[in-house]
Amino acid sequence: MARFEGKTVIVTGGASGIGAAIAERFASEGASVVIADLRAESATAQAAKLINAIGVGCDVGDEAAVVACVDAAVAHTGRIDVIVNNAGLMTFKTLDQWTADDWLKVLRVDLLGAAFFTRELFRRVGPEGGAIINISSVHAVETSANAAPYAAAKAALLSLTRTSAIEGKAKNIRANAILPGAIDTPMLWENPNVKSGAEVIDKASVGQPRDVAAAAVFLASDDAAFITGASLAVDGGRLAAL
Ligand SMILES: NC(=O)c1ccc[n+]([C@@H]2O[C@H](COP(=O)([O-])OP(=O)(O)OC[C@H]3O[C@@H](n4cnc5c(N)ncnc54)[C@H](O)[C@@H]3O)[C@@H](O)[C@H]2O)c1
Repeated sequence: MARFEGKTVIVTGGASGIGAAIAERFASEGASVVIADLRAESATAQAAKLINAIGVGCDVGDEAAVVACVDAAVAHTGRIDVIVNNAGLMTFKTLDQWTADDWLKVLRVDLLGAAFFTRELFRRVGPEGGAIINISSVHAVETSANAAPYAAAKAALLSLTRTSAIEGKAKNIRANAILPGAIDTPMLWENPNVKSGAEVIDKASVGQPRDVAAAAVFLASDDAAFITGASLAVDGGRLAAL
């Protein structure tokens, strides 16, 4: 039997890149998938390519929209089992230029969005429990210039993962983070630091969205039953190098 048969999985930012690959992989393993993305039409179009999926327009940084999205997922299948907090954005300025709005724009999506979906899973999960996968970044650990809010949000996401693992024990919820390195998606190639050469990307060390998807399904599966609060780098060894 497919290992996610009967399970409902929400993938945020699932209309593109890593999220699309994660949604595809969960669907291929039997899950009912809800693709929650700011771009509603793209979410619906992406969902239409999968076996058992719906697309929902959702700004993850909007608390009410997150509640409505989880309502839609529960209305669709009657349950919620796994949340993949993947939606993210990165903006670029030097430290002397950031405004409060700039900071909040990134923190709202990359950190608060995950916190809102975490809260909803904690409130609505069934007695069998569930799993949270937070898509962080190697920027949580090492970073480059001009990306302070992104690096801070991704580091805070690791902290949220730890708290979720601790508080999740009582509800049988496991929470783990993935730290992707350079992955072949629009976000990577549109990064001004990459375009300018300030962040050097060795093309031989660029991973594919499916590499992150493989880690996500593992962490959500029963094979990872004793893994919670962990951070898994999926970076081709990037963090290991001096
Ligand atoms: N690509 C990389 O090299 C890389 C490396 C490390 C971490 N990541 C992380 O992986 C995740 C996915 O990135 P990607 O490379 O696939 O990017 P992407 O730009 O291809 O996809 C991001 C998706 O998130 C959606 N999104 C953006 N803001 C949203 C919001 N407010 N609400 C809902 N959806 C929203 C976008 O519409 C898009 O579909 C991000 O969290 C990113 O930080 C990516």
